[in-house]
Amino acid sequence: PIVTYVLRDGSTRILEVANGSSVMEGAVGNNVPGIDADCGGSASCGTCHVYVDESCRGLFDAPLPEESDLLQCSDAMQSNSRLSCQLFLSDECTEVRVVIPGMG
Ligand code: FES
Repeated sequence: PIVTYVLRDGSTRILEVANGSSVMEGAVGNNVPGIDADCGGSASCGTCHVYVDESCRGLFDAPLPEESDLLQCSDAMQSNSRLSCQLFLSDECTEVRVVIPGMG
């Protein structure tokens, strides 16, 4: 799958990320700034928050309760907020676009 990351400065990084990896892992493995993933992917830190483009929201499983709870604690939450560590890529996700929330 091809993942486009829109960074806080408005620039984009377009990366090929392996099936079975998460959007977070693709970012961390390629030094994409703004996805820190402090908890390593266990849906407990919130530092992998992204906004998922409408075009590909339906490709991912619905959030688990712990993800929803964590996102609701974020001031930056939007209806398309997700934790990128819970967004696992598959063949269905040919093109995924995520926006990294700004600083404020
Ligand atoms: Fe911590 Fe996703 S990496 S919540």
